[in-house]
Amino acid sequence: MISAVMPTYGRTDVVFERGEGTYLFDTDGKRYLDFGTGIAVVSIGHAHPHLVEALKDQAEKLWHCSNLYRIAGQEKLAQRLVDISFADTVFFCNSGAEAVEAGLKMVRKYQSSIGNSGKYRVITCEQSFHGRTLATISAGGNDKHREGFGPMVDAFDRVAFGNLNELRDAITDETAAILVEPIQGEGGIHPAEPEYFQRLRETADEFGLALFFDEVQTGVGRTGKFFAHEWTGITPDVVSIAKGLGGGFPVGACLATEKLAAALGPGTHGSTFGGNPLAMAAANAVLDVVLEDGFLDHVIEMGNLLRGELQKLVERHPAVLEQVRGGGLLLGLKAKAPNMDIVNALIAKGLLTVPAGDNVIRFIPPLTVSAGEIADAVALVDEVCGDLAP
Ligand SMILES: Cc1ncc(COP(=O)(O)O)c(C=O)c1O
Repeated sequence: MISAVMPTYGRTDVVFERGEGTYLFDTDGKRYLDFGTGIAVVSIGHAHPHLVEALKDQAEKLWHCSNLYRIAGQEKLAQRLVDISFADTVFFCNSGAEAVEAGLKMVRKYQSSIGNSGKYRVITCEQSFHGRTLATISAGGNDKHREGFGPMVDAFDRVAFGNLNELRDAITDETAAILVEPIQGEGGIHPAEPEYFQRLRETADEFGLALFFDEVQTGVGRTGKFFAHEWTGITPDVVSIAKGLGGGFPVGACLATEKLAAALGPGTHGSTFGGNPLAMAAANAVLDVVLEDGFLDHVIEMGNLLRGELQKLVERHPAVLEQVRGGGLLLGLKAKAPNMDIVNALIAKGLLTVPAGDNVIRFIPPLTVSAGEIADAVALVDEVCGDLAP
């Protein structure tokens, strides 16, 4: 008989009751180091006092009122995001897929508004992940996500990530935009050289295409800059963010230049819940923390530390591990042993990580993680690799 919760996830048999900083506690009182953060969501740790306070305060005043009215928290958050980025304007929604969808609609509307209504196709990359809606599984690079759900939205042309020639060859008179993750997350923590992204910018300019970065996983400080694309030295036209933005509260956002968003006037796009006062209180509180002086330096420092320690493990356990890759606190350990065996053995020892494509184990702790917590986590990975070594 089917479970009452629709069985779309393969779930580990553990129920968490409480979180504190980098730790989670299950219903038996067992403590876990959380280097998974609900898949890169709990950006400033569990139950961060500033976030708790902001939500309690807002919960006593106003949760929801609709985008039919001005929302002070939205205006504040949008201005803050505009002030620190390439963007002139921000649309708020509730998830990563919706943030991507908003951007996909925007690039079409932009092209149509300048007389290019035949330009609607978007070039995306193999191994990419953009969400689970029909449009975003059509865009993404994972055939498994499409099985049985066809026909797909016929609006995407996929090319190899990192291959500029292939991408240029895929451009036609119908191409509207290029959509790319700065570091491919779900696909297996695949980074690309800054030069690749610089060439994408030039290519987009040459052909009049919008350059759209999906930063749902990489954004909000995860790589040590607020946006991962800042490492590339170029500016995009559209960026989607979500995951870390609400610190655990569902918030998504699509940021864009005025040029791209100008055609999105009243009535063109919307979301009932998007950007409601409670969500905005959460996201503004997260930004208070992430934008504090020195916070992103801490992410870089902890990222370097974790990367160095994982590298040592790769050298110590060559039969089990193969490579460390990624940036900041978005790190992937490519394994030789099945990644799920390692992930499950780590759970048993009290360390949460997240599997990714290409047999990778993701290490995505809260951005507030400490050196001591990293040392404890690495010691557990060391133990598990020792146990699994042939
Ligand atoms: C790069 C990227 N885009 C989009 C999504 C979809 O986000 P959501 O699950 O919130 O819809 C994800 C989720 O993992 C992601 O990593």
